Amino acid sequence: MFKVKNKKFKTKSESYSYLNNILNHLISDEPDALANLANSASLFGLLIDEINWAGFYLFKNNELVLGPFWGKPACTHIAIGEGVCGKAAKDLEVQIVDDVDAFPGHIACDSDSKSEIVLPIIVNNKLKAVLDIDSPKLSRFNQEDASGLKETITLLEKLNWSQLS
Ligand code: SME
Repeated sequence: MFKVKNKKFKTKSESYSYLNNILNHLISDEPDALANLANSASLFGLLIDEINWAGFYLFKNNELVLGPFWGKPACTHIAIGEGVCGKAAKDLEVQIVDDVDAFPGHIACDSDSKSEIVLPIIVNNKLKAVLDIDSPKLSRFNQEDASGLKETITLLEKLNWSQLS
């Protein structure tokens, strides 16, 4: 099994490189998409600083349904267009929210969450899921997180998403 060390990095970019390198090894030998998403969520919880929730909402039957995650139990169904996840799914764009209380329609699953980043996962021009990460700190996420996590998404695009719909 892969050893994951909780190292301290000088920059976010270095820490995402470390995470993405481990993720790449973890998923490259495993054909099961659900197992890979479950290990991905675990890695986010272990390696991304100052977060309280990280996981996937899968696009199924025209809505988002809770998938593998790390953190407290969360809302199970989110309509497209609702909340930060639903907006990412509707606009197909990364959402960075500095203060979730100031985001109209934010869905509060965990009252500890203060800021949030959501990235859509799009394969062959079709939405497959969103990756949602929450922090108990205001303004935790910026473009450096978005760019590190876009590389994470690029790795996850290679999964066999047809197993999950
Ligand atoms: N806050 C999200 C809902 C999901 S939880 O954060 C896990 C939203 O507004 O879409």
